[in-house]
Amino acid sequence: MSKKIAVLTSGGDAPGMNACVRAVIRSGIKSGCDMYVIYDGYKGLVEGKIEQVDRNFVSDIINRGGTILRTARLPEFKEDAIQKMAVKQLSDYGIDSLIVIGGDGTYRGAAELAKKGVHTVGIPGTIDNDIASTEYTIGFDTCCNTICECVDKIRDTTTSHQRCTFIEVMGNKCGDLALYSGVAEGVEMIITPDDPIEDEKVFEKLKSLKGGKKKHSLVIVSEKIYPNIFEFVKKVTEKTGIETRAEILGHLQRGGSPTSKDRIEATRFGIAAVQAILDGESSICLGLHNGKIRRINIDEALAMKRPENHELLEAIKLVNR
Ligand code: F6P
Repeated sequence: MSKKIAVLTSGGDAPGMNACVRAVIRSGIKSGCDMYVIYDGYKGLVEGKIEQVDRNFVSDIINRGGTILRTARLPEFKEDAIQKMAVKQLSDYGIDSLIVIGGDGTYRGAAELAKKGVHTVGIPGTIDNDIASTEYTIGFDTCCNTICECVDKIRDTTTSHQRCTFIEVMGNKCGDLALYSGVAEGVEMIITPDDPIEDEKVFEKLKSLKGGKKKHSLVIVSEKIYPNIFEFVKKVTEKTGIETRAEILGHLQRGGSPTSKDRIEATRFGIAAVQAILDGESSICLGLHNGKIRRINIDEALAMKRPENHELLEAIKLVNR
């Protein structure tokens, strides 16, 4: 009897998720498995939104942003009774293996299902790059590029008006989006959860920059640092005398066609996930380590702490003012 494997996407969507779903479905079919998709993440699983698909189902999606399987957040999935409903739906279709694409929350769901007998494999898919067990998460590169495109535009008008602009980017509690896009844009200040800067120091630095030759400045800030960035920039204007504006890039950061890097990593992860199932693995997630894909137990992965990323920030001090 052929193996029956299902795939779902969960949590915040990320560019490259479609490329990953494509790789899972196509490599599964090539290996002789029956392949299923689940719509709307764990919510759809509990509701039985399950469909068997063929290889054509994933045609022409490698370049598309978002997730054709749609996604949802289901906090109730922590409850035993809800998990049992999910297991029942899978067993009604004869599905014994589930590949989930998402972040830590998605992994937690997979670990619980594994305890109830479903073979689960997690693939890191989130723009945040905030999963400790991998060096890279699908969607991060596209998101960084999107932020850069936006900052390029904001730079034009900031320069013309000789202002200061604070740009708030996503990342949940992780500063990587701010850090990497900030380095790529050569901005004057990068403020992240790993490297917060006291308000007084922010004011001083901006005043000293304005006193020099360069009359405008850009600051990239991780979300959740300032409860209200618009209120904060009012304070910056008051304290420094520099006309300061704020932009929250918001959900546009999650959209768009994936970069080639995201398509390639997503494809590698998708193929590796199916292979892990065929090898009899369960309750594992995949991570990139020195460019190679490795398998890690999900509970161990969830217990890992992300190393703080100060190195890059220290290095660019040699380049920036
Ligand atoms: O996890 C991805 C992410 O985009 C975070 O960067 C952000 O904090 C969060 O999701 C926003 O979630 P929602 O789309 O549910 O508002």
